[in-house]
Amino acid sequence: MRGSRKRKPIVAQTRIPGEPTAEREAVERRWFRLTNHDTTLARLVTAADARTERYHRWLVFKQAFSPELVRLFLRNADADLPILDPFSGTGTTVVECARRNVPAIGIEPIAATAFTATAKFIREWADLPDIPDNLDWPDIADHLTHPLHRAALIAAQSSRLTATGAINANAPSIRSAFTSLVETIRDDLNHPLSCRNLIICADARDPSFIGDESIGGILTSPPYLSRHDYSKLTAAFQDVYHHWYPAQQSNQIAAHPRAKTKPKNTCHHPAILEAADTLNMIRQAKLARVVRTYFDDMHRTLTHWHRICKPAAPIWCVIGGARFKDVYIPADTIFADLAKQEGFHIDEMRVARRLIDTGRKFGTLQNVAPRETIVMMHKK
Ligand SMILES: C[S@@+](CC[C@H](N)C(=O)[O-])C[C@H]1O[C@@H](n2cnc3c(N)ncnc32)[C@H](O)[C@@H]1O
Repeated sequence: MRGSRKRKPIVAQTRIPGEPTAEREAVERRWFRLTNHDTTLARLVTAADARTERYHRWLVFKQAFSPELVRLFLRNADADLPILDPFSGTGTTVVECARRNVPAIGIEPIAATAFTATAKFIREWADLPDIPDNLDWPDIADHLTHPLHRAALIAAQSSRLTATGAINANAPSIRSAFTSLVETIRDDLNHPLSCRNLIICADARDPSFIGDESIGGILTSPPYLSRHDYSKLTAAFQDVYHHWYPAQQSNQIAAHPRAKTKPKNTCHHPAILEAADTLNMIRQAKLARVVRTYFDDMHRTLTHWHRICKPAAPIWCVIGGARFKDVYIPADTIFADLAKQEGFHIDEMRVARRLIDTGRKFGTLQNVAPRETIVMMHKK
């Protein structure tokens, strides 16, 4: 009687029992044809090279990308000018463009980071005042007035931090890190940047100060969908900056769960709703809010990009996906959907690397893991 026995249906297995996956599977499948894996990009989406390259080596963010990615963009993307990096961080895009005499603008809301990146455009060095040994950073800071000296102290403090923003127990003393940064900066000034670019301390979600159709191309990497708070990760070197500029209060990054304001959700993409519903289902309401807010911000940002970009302007956007408590969020493909909706044409999804080694079955998809992808697109 073998033939008459009913076969068990193949059930899509997920790690969270009862988790709906259809919407996220659909968005993954939609972009599958344009997705290519390019392992040569794996290093370029990291800060590894920034540690050795002139100007980039002053303040190195773990979250930064490589100056080589900027060069690749300038060679291949066929951008008009100026170039914009709306999430400019340490200024990799803007500074590398300046090394190549390419006009560029950066936006960065953390004042200490924007200040240190801007200092790279100062050409005049001043002799360091006499500073006694064995001082802690506030006492060293009291001796410094020149912006390049101040940038050196901020970068020195940053170099002593762990990935979570705490002072590393094995770090060199602040004095020794400062002395080393001063040498680095003096050395780099012997190779002046070819042009002076601009970094604006502002929020990329509202770039109303940028004119319509004035941007020739965008190379950027927005904050990743994560539970990390950029303000916290950088707090120790922000303290140094605020020692001199206490009035600056520009570090509100509302994309973070602890943000004070609670705006209404504006982006209702079904894959986002599905991920948020799943997080709510497993009692992770806070993470569900992070996901909703993140894509609200991305959506808002894309609307502005469409307004400020010249027709046909190319955009390369490095995006990281996530897995929150086993809930998979394909940030790159959702971003591609939102961009298409706003009037961009997606040229390619170039996957640089996996962010988590172990892939897993997700609904009917096999071996799925969050990726770091360069979404390559242009304004139609
Ligand atoms: C992934 S990092 C980019 C790093 C940059 N590509 C580099 O090479 O240094 C994201 C940056 O976006 C900044 N950021 C966060 N929220 C922002 C916002 N609303 N507007 C502009 N920048 C923001 C963070 O402070 C961080 O510096």
